[in-house]
Amino acid sequence: MPESITITDNRTGQAIEVPIVEGGVNAAEWSKLLPGLWFYDPGFSATAECESAITYIDGEAGVLEYRGYPIEQLAEQASYLEVAYLLLKGELPTPAQLDAFVAEVTGHTFIHENVKRFLEGFHYDAHPMGMLVSEVGALSTFYPDAKDIEDPATRWNHTVRLIAKMPTLAAATHRFCSGRPFVYPDASLSFAENFLSMMWKTSGQPFEADPALVRAVELLFILHADHEQNCSTTTMRVVGSAHADPYSGVAAACAALYGPRHGGANEAVLRMLASIGTLDEVPAFVQSVKEGHGRLQGFGHRVYKNYDPRAKIIRKAAYDVFDVTGKNPLLDIALKLEEVALADDYFISRRLYPNVDFYSGLIYQALGFPVEMFPVLFAIPRTSGWLAHWNEMLDHKTKIARPRQLYTGSPRRDFVPLSGRS
Ligand code: ACO
Repeated sequence: MPESITITDNRTGQAIEVPIVEGGVNAAEWSKLLPGLWFYDPGFSATAECESAITYIDGEAGVLEYRGYPIEQLAEQASYLEVAYLLLKGELPTPAQLDAFVAEVTGHTFIHENVKRFLEGFHYDAHPMGMLVSEVGALSTFYPDAKDIEDPATRWNHTVRLIAKMPTLAAATHRFCSGRPFVYPDASLSFAENFLSMMWKTSGQPFEADPALVRAVELLFILHADHEQNCSTTTMRVVGSAHADPYSGVAAACAALYGPRHGGANEAVLRMLASIGTLDEVPAFVQSVKEGHGRLQGFGHRVYKNYDPRAKIIRKAAYDVFDVTGKNPLLDIALKLEEVALADDYFISRRLYPNVDFYSGLIYQALGFPVEMFPVLFAIPRTSGWLAHWNEMLDHKTKIARPRQLYTGSPRRDFVPLSGRS
């Protein structure tokens, strides 16, 4: 027998049976049974906006899976482009499929020369993430055929283009900000290595990245590739539901990621660790958080009520990076902070654990990235997740996103001419 809940409408005394589907209640069915009744859910914390087969999270158990594969296994064994393919296509690629995908992506890493000129119009101290939002939006004007979202071949073509061009745009942005000449993509390098080359290469000198650092970037890209219906992915879906082209959608998703509550938390972690300064100050800092003076940045998550599995992986990987770069002096403060917080009843009772951002900033900083680049680094791999959701949403032929509201403004009133207002 199908599961359902029975509710009595106290206004009429009528018993209403609402079917439960996949552990939830179908709002369309519910509205038919109770016409005119609103579902008030600011922040969508109790609303599933869609069905999705891409990413599974069990926040209670601290589980994250892409297409059923545990994040720990992907982080250990896969490359970022393998993961991007998995997110987009639903299955891991065969060797031939991966070769073809890598070749396709590599072939699209260049950006139009006019995009470089567009970059030159930014103010010298522009924030890289603000620049990225505009650059990705501008790409839409370079590819008018991307508007043909009904054609699967066109969709795939621009999906590949976006994944390929994000590292180039990101690195070009950094080079502009630091006043250094643009470095063209190098088709002989892997995705992550090419990104590092475009970031750091000095002209006239060969570029060789330490394999441990290339692997760390690859790992960070894998961990950040998708996280189901987070704020920026929801933005991508909402913009995509209006049938906007994917460049406009990704630009909007980047704008959401620019927000400090979303893509900016790892920067806040670094600032917090630096402000604590010494190990001795950690207990006093934790006490001040408990007394309501700010939050412990990098702790807590809307979905994870357990250790964020990505934080565990990054914490371990940090040591491989520090073996090459030397230890980030803030690491000891982070470890002590975690130890003190995880033993404290305030954090235990609220189920606050380290999230992905607690350790990622430490690695990014050790790799030499300036803090303003952190959200940009997040956007590069998340593009594959955004596009996987965008493609899935279009396949599902969803309606345009258009929530309702509870109006709390003035009742109807008549216009008063300016002369009659005091
Ligand atoms: N430090 C101290 N207390 C906290 C923290 C924290 N980091 N996070 C939550 N709490 C407390 C709240 O004060 C609240 O306590 P109360 O019940 O006594 O009022 C309780 O825990 C619940 O907190 P909410 O704000 O309701 O939790 P919510 O799910 O809305 O917020 C969030 C999640 C935004 C991530 C929050 O934990 C936070 O601000 N963390 C710090 C910022 C951060 O690390 N963000 C990165 C998230 S991961 C990502 O976006 C990639």
